[in-house]
Amino acid sequence: MSLRTITKLAASVALIAFASGAARAADNVEVLHWWTSGGEAAALDVLKKDLESKGVTWSDMPVAGGGGEQAMTALRARVTAGNPPTAVQALGFDITDWAKQGVVGDLGEVANAEGWDKVIPTALQNFSKFDGKWIAAPVNVHSTNWVWINKKAMDAAGGKEPQNWDEFVAMLDKMKANGITPLAHGGQPWQDATLFDAVVLSLGTDFYKESMIDLDPAALSGDKMKEAFSRMEKLRSYVDDNFSGRDWNLASAMVIEGKAGAQMMGDWAKGEFLKAGQKPGTDFVCIRFPGTQGAVTFNSDQFMMFKVGEDKQKAQLLMASAIEDPKFQSAFNVVKGSVPARTDVPDTDFDDCGKKGIKDLAEANEKGTLFGSMAHGHAVPASIKNAMYDVITRHFNGDLSTDEAPAELAAAVAAAQ
Ligand code: BGC
Repeated sequence: MSLRTITKLAASVALIAFASGAARAADNVEVLHWWTSGGEAAALDVLKKDLESKGVTWSDMPVAGGGGEQAMTALRARVTAGNPPTAVQALGFDITDWAKQGVVGDLGEVANAEGWDKVIPTALQNFSKFDGKWIAAPVNVHSTNWVWINKKAMDAAGGKEPQNWDEFVAMLDKMKANGITPLAHGGQPWQDATLFDAVVLSLGTDFYKESMIDLDPAALSGDKMKEAFSRMEKLRSYVDDNFSGRDWNLASAMVIEGKAGAQMMGDWAKGEFLKAGQKPGTDFVCIRFPGTQGAVTFNSDQFMMFKVGEDKQKAQLLMASAIEDPKFQSAFNVVKGSVPARTDVPDTDFDDCGKKGIKDLAEANEKGTLFGSMAHGHAVPASIKNAMYDVITRHFNGDLSTDEAPAELAAAVAAAQ
């Protein structure tokens, strides 16, 4: 073999190696997320396997911490270092905040070809798009105004699903008398705020909108807000002494095991019950927080895509397309506890809680009683949300009285604006 032939051969071998390396790199996604509980990991696995079946490999970047605050801190470090992950689980206004900084990618090629505009509700598009461009792929719709009740504990407490605040309190009182912790709760600001979402909504849809979305100072500081804090104080009396810092899924486990009666939590909690082999209607009951029937406070997990090198863009588009596949939307959300982000996915494979979630969402959307969850970043940007968290948590921990809390809330919101 002549030197020339050998050189040519070596060059083409190098080219093949380069090409296959590039293909491999293009078909890998590094995904930052906070889905680390049992139910969440099971749902994540559905996504991972779906992508793998399409030739896209998965590099996992889990950052534990319900509600995603820690994940967002990790993300800031990566973006600041100029090395964002391929795709990032993100919520509502956080997506918009990143878009404003000009660092997000563009999913238009896939979104337009697949007609996402027609099947993804406007309430989600408001966050998935920025300046008319698709920047994130919504994977689900969760809602926060749910209560998850241990069926045996409910039966022992009279067997009736509470329809209003008084009936809810009566049920919790009976559970206490029966020797269990009435309300399973984890003392973390985002969990306290999740309770607050439901409590504010239970005092009226107009009140929720005025206070949590429009940030009307009169609504934030008025008598209704005092009633909201008074209800929070009452709820606090049903929580056990070890609640501080407890993760939300450990609170779910207390209900699953019958150590506690109920948990107020978004429908990701259902994922834990299912993972534990429990069945809705038999082992646990799902109801809207009493007084919020007909209304929904939602949050949607979206995979936001950052500006990355050309070698990774193909994988971003593949992932976005896989996420919006109606079959995947069904398979994933059945496990996650959420409902599909598309309006055209049949509810056939969903259990009764899932079917109810899908119906409630559609009805609330139609009636104008669908609102972004404050606790989960869909009502106001993080700066204001965090100001609210602070007041809600101080009050829940007894560091702020019910009389003082409304004025503190209004002042904290004003300062954060
Ligand atoms: C997310 C859910 C997640 C939950 C607890 C919420 O903010 O939307 O997907 O399961 O936090 O981690």
